[in-house]
Amino acid sequence: MMLRFPNNFIFGAATSAHQVEGGNHNDWTEWEKSEFRILNLESKIKKEEFRKKLPEHLFEKWPTPADLENYISGRACDHYNRFREDFDIAKSLSHNAHRFSIEWSRIEPEEGKFNKKEIEHYRQVIQALRERGIEPFVTLWHWTLPIWISGIGGWENKKTIEYFLRYANKIVDSLGREIKFWMPINEPTVYVGHSYVIGVFPPQVKSFYRANNILKNLISVHKESYKLIHKKLGEKVMVGSAHNYHYHTPYRKWHLLDLLATGVLRYIRDTRSSKWSKDHEDFIGLNYYYRDTVKFVLGGGRFSMIDIKNPDKRVSDMGWEIYPEGIYHVLKDLKKYNKPIYITENGIADAKDEKRTKFIKDHLGWIHKAIEEGTDIRGYFYWSLLDNFEWDKGFWPRFGLVEIDYKTMERKIRPSAYEYAKICKENFLHSQRVL
Ligand code: BGC
Repeated sequence: MMLRFPNNFIFGAATSAHQVEGGNHNDWTEWEKSEFRILNLESKIKKEEFRKKLPEHLFEKWPTPADLENYISGRACDHYNRFREDFDIAKSLSHNAHRFSIEWSRIEPEEGKFNKKEIEHYRQVIQALRERGIEPFVTLWHWTLPIWISGIGGWENKKTIEYFLRYANKIVDSLGREIKFWMPINEPTVYVGHSYVIGVFPPQVKSFYRANNILKNLISVHKESYKLIHKKLGEKVMVGSAHNYHYHTPYRKWHLLDLLATGVLRYIRDTRSSKWSKDHEDFIGLNYYYRDTVKFVLGGGRFSMIDIKNPDKRVSDMGWEIYPEGIYHVLKDLKKYNKPIYITENGIADAKDEKRTKFIKDHLGWIHKAIEEGTDIRGYFYWSLLDNFEWDKGFWPRFGLVEIDYKTMERKIRPSAYEYAKICKENFLHSQRVL
């Protein structure tokens, strides 16, 4: 079967500053080196169960989950210096768009002191993309904070909203004419969940109450940024959200309490924040990775009475269930907002590159079905162009279309990248699926 995508459909890949650039100085770099974090990791990686939990092949290539350096972002992919080379690769793979983020801590390393050299750097990044016929999709904040902002309590402090808008204003004034697609904030719920509910990202807090306040601040900064960008740049630019949506299903299909738990989790993670931002977005940015199967449990676990029980079926190196059909259901649900949708992230950690081609094709197959049924989907960004620093997990999860040798910084295009490139080039997908 030949599935053709609409004309002008966008195909590309995504990255974020802290995960690929290297040489950053922000709340994450401080946390990565903190005594608390290092002691914690040392005791964790010594334990036998730790190794048993992860697939054996992850221990073959440096840095492995057992190396402490794995958890320090350091030079990352040195993309800050090699962006032109990386965009040459993206071009050779027929990408016509690229999503990346601007690092606030580079632009404003000290309160109110904007660094012209760094603004110029991002101008060159944008120019390099345009010279290669690649449309930039720009995220203004992808999870890392300048040190002076984390010092005042990060997003918990309402002042941060003001400061962020001043930073956004600076970017709009300096680079605004060169950017059409904007995403102020990346995945507010995932950030809040990891930093303030399960406490695995800095500042490692576990408090629903604080998480809820921060989420409100993030949604409000999204709305204010939307207004600011349009006020200054007019109606031609497109400002969108970038939400992470899981596909939630009940563990026991007809069990009332599982259905209820599924509904609650879906509401907390997805529905609530997408409703909040719905009147302040020209497009919806959807980041989709996997399905969560939800069970009601007495006594509680991570979400007290809600447990996520993923059947150990086809999974990525990170244990995430591969469930392409989920993206179709999420897309059908988002159709009700009547906004264009871009898939701003979708990808798999697959160090051996055995599952990636099928992963991409199957997801695109389901995306195509949603398009056929009338959902306005305009683009797809694979996560990620390069292997990169996967936050608290470090470098071992290999999401890239391009493999990075972290010792030599050599780039090696994976076979799946060429398969994806064929789709990007021809704008259609050969599919054997029966949906
Ligand atoms: C984030 C990325 C991250 C990816 C894979 C997304 O939620 O935006 O920064 O690398 O998931 O975990």
